[in-house]
Amino acid sequence: MSDNKVILNYDGKAFEYPIIDSTLGEKGIDISKLRDQTGLITLDRGFKNTGSTISTITYLDGDKGELFYRGYPIEQIAEKSNFTEVMYLLLNGNLPTQAEYTNFENGIKKYNYIAEEMKKIIDVFPRSAHPMGVLSSLTSALTAFNPKAVNVAVKEDLDHAAEMMIAKFAHLCAWTYRKTQGLPLNHGDNSLNYVENFYRMAFRKPNEDFVMDKVVVDALDKLLILHADHEQNCSTSTVRMVGSAHTGLFASISAGVSALWGPLHGGANQAVIEMLEMIEKDGGDVAKYVAKAKDKNDSFRLMGFGHRVYKNFDPRARIIKKAADDILNALGIHDKALDIAMQLEKVALEDDYFVERKLYPNVDFYSGIIYRALGIPTEMFTVMFALGRLPGWISQWKEMRLLGDPIGRPRQVYQGYTPRDYVSIENR
Ligand code: SDX
Repeated sequence: MSDNKVILNYDGKAFEYPIIDSTLGEKGIDISKLRDQTGLITLDRGFKNTGSTISTITYLDGDKGELFYRGYPIEQIAEKSNFTEVMYLLLNGNLPTQAEYTNFENGIKKYNYIAEEMKKIIDVFPRSAHPMGVLSSLTSALTAFNPKAVNVAVKEDLDHAAEMMIAKFAHLCAWTYRKTQGLPLNHGDNSLNYVENFYRMAFRKPNEDFVMDKVVVDALDKLLILHADHEQNCSTSTVRMVGSAHTGLFASISAGVSALWGPLHGGANQAVIEMLEMIEKDGGDVAKYVAKAKDKNDSFRLMGFGHRVYKNFDPRARIIKKAADDILNALGIHDKALDIAMQLEKVALEDDYFVERKLYPNVDFYSGIIYRALGIPTEMFTVMFALGRLPGWISQWKEMRLLGDPIGRPRQVYQGYTPRDYVSIENR
């Protein structure tokens, strides 16, 4: 049995702090009494070494490049499951029986529509508005149409809120796409499964019969599975932080959408394609851009490379890279961006700068190539990430509330002015 405490020697005294055990990965030093006992706090900018909670949902091993949803390896889940089943797994902890699956799917279908007034809200946005800004606003607006706060003490209330959020968020994601194309806004069709329903709401043309392309639906399903949850990443931590104030689920998710938008986080999938297009326009000079990424005086970063936790290949990137190949072949598409991405990966992974810093392709490096092959415009890529991450956000919000985590309120190390007296303006 490993030592289950650490000792901090400070100010001539020894203080003991218990170690919280884990089933996988890092154990944690419980410092909840640190400030009371020593007057000290910890400082860990970006929380690179700090756990915010105890969770049982997702685990990733950054050194091995492994990812597990409720203990199931992502490779098996991506190959054998479907997005609706993964949503159930993340929300409830185990794979559903057929009856549980059907009940869950029907629960979502109950809410497979949106208040007509929501169309008036999306109407006022300019068509040029970035879809993530529209999505965040519409998600928050959902609260106005569903004001009942979630009574987390009642399981049925939590389940209904999750099913409602899942059903309506798919509409909002589809509508943000329709808005950019100037197309009419559709409601759901309960004869379809979740991913088919999203695909039809987003891509149905008013003047044609809709053809459900299985290659596209399967690709979307796999991409949504791969984005479904990822421990305490920036947007999930945002959802937890906002929810820790007992803010409603919809408003908490809206905050997560805004956090995901950032180019260092979910917005990277859009930034990767823009980077590949820039390199292609610049004659495909991959070495030049690798050199720029290494140059400390150049703000250019290799988007889609590096990760706070993965210091090995992101397992999702491996799966997506293969899927990109398969889908481009199935659709008979040759995308120069994929060639450039693979050249970039090869050059970078042979370069000491990237090797020493353990910078590998992450989930965003190849995903945009698939979205583009499916006809999804670049500025919609992060909306697709958000649709995938929704069940993770809801599951983590639910866990935080059921665990009874306290309201998040970090401390700080203050280095500002010491107390001083006010000076009236004529004497300054
Ligand atoms: C996602 O957390 C999650 O789980 C996120 C996510 C999820 O599913 O939720 O996986 C999704 O957000 C994936 C990441 C998408 N972002 C990008 O692809 C943007 C490009 N990557 C980076 O900006 C960066 O790698 C981060 C933001 C992802 C991670 O940054 P860290 O952990 O804060 O690391 P850092 O910025 O301190 O970098 C360490 C070193 C630095 O060099 P030195 O100062 O040590 O010399 O590595 C360098 C950095 O300059 N570096 C890069 C680089 N990423 C890091 N140099 C060039 N290009 C890069 N992409």
